[in-house]
Amino acid sequence: MSWNFEELQNQATEESKGIRNSQELESFRIKYLGKKGILQQIYASLSQASSEEKPLIGKGANEFKIYLQVLLEKKQKDISFSSQGIKDQVDITIPGVYQSLGHKHLLTRTIDDICALFQKLGFVVYEGPEIESEFNNFDALNIPPDHPSRDGFDTFYVGKKDPTQKNKNLLLRSQTSPVQIRVMKQYKPPMAVLVPGKVYRPDAVDASHSFMFHQIEGLLVDRDVKFSDLKGLLEVFCKRFFGAQTLMRFRPHFFPFTEPSAEVDISWTHGKKKWLEIMGCGMVHPNVFKAVGYPKGRYTGLAFGMGVERIAMLKYGINDIRTFFENDNRFLKQF
Ligand code: DAH
Repeated sequence: MSWNFEELQNQATEESKGIRNSQELESFRIKYLGKKGILQQIYASLSQASSEEKPLIGKGANEFKIYLQVLLEKKQKDISFSSQGIKDQVDITIPGVYQSLGHKHLLTRTIDDICALFQKLGFVVYEGPEIESEFNNFDALNIPPDHPSRDGFDTFYVGKKDPTQKNKNLLLRSQTSPVQIRVMKQYKPPMAVLVPGKVYRPDAVDASHSFMFHQIEGLLVDRDVKFSDLKGLLEVFCKRFFGAQTLMRFRPHFFPFTEPSAEVDISWTHGKKKWLEIMGCGMVHPNVFKAVGYPKGRYTGLAFGMGVERIAMLKYGINDIRTFFENDNRFLKQF
């Protein structure tokens, strides 16, 4: 018995060209390499072969086997690369995973909106560090040494507090007002700056308190800045930010770093009209100018500070401050 191995190889090669998918490839494998396949028939024929033929058939069969294995492997690769092959392995009709495009957090947007509004009025945005000296956060702002807000229950101190080293004691700023000191030490008036940023207070967390929240501080210093400038400026802000129908009123208040000082309320109509407090403000206290080394009596200034969460809650009707920080997309996506 003799086999034409060259013809067998050509035949297998030709046949393999028509293979389109893994089923066809499997039929091809069974035909040549299966238990009853051609290769097995060749091996089986050895028992009837003459002693001269045997080594030739054996060698030819082994070479043919290797040839088939290489061919199969190559074909397998071709199939998995072709789209026909991918279709066999995965369901290409399943919709893809949708990656939704995010957007700015409501607090960031509120900060951006307020900054943009004041930038149009000539203010420059300036940022200060969240770790401050006790001096900038309190002393330079005319806050007396025994003021309760300096207590460890009201301010996060960083490291040990040394009462004799106010310049060196560090804390997480409890307000953005210390940035007033930084700006005035760095620049000479006239100046109009807006300072957004995070502030920290060891408040117990509830619906309206968080140990971290955001404030925006405003400071305008020049010669002859008047209280009416402060009122006019904030009225423009309130009307532009909350709507032209918004009314604003000043209520006398006390802040150590401004004199006179006021709290600002806006009218808010939800069924019946209500006055809601939105910020503190006043005319820069002479002691603050003294702390930054400005000559006595040369400048006057106005300052104000507002809580961003409070303002966003008012404007967008949110009743729990914690929802800003819980990272729940069902909340965040609404804005
Ligand atoms: N720093 C004050 C606070 O955290 C807010 C404030 C009030 C800032 C009056 C000011 C201001 O600049 O003039 O409660």
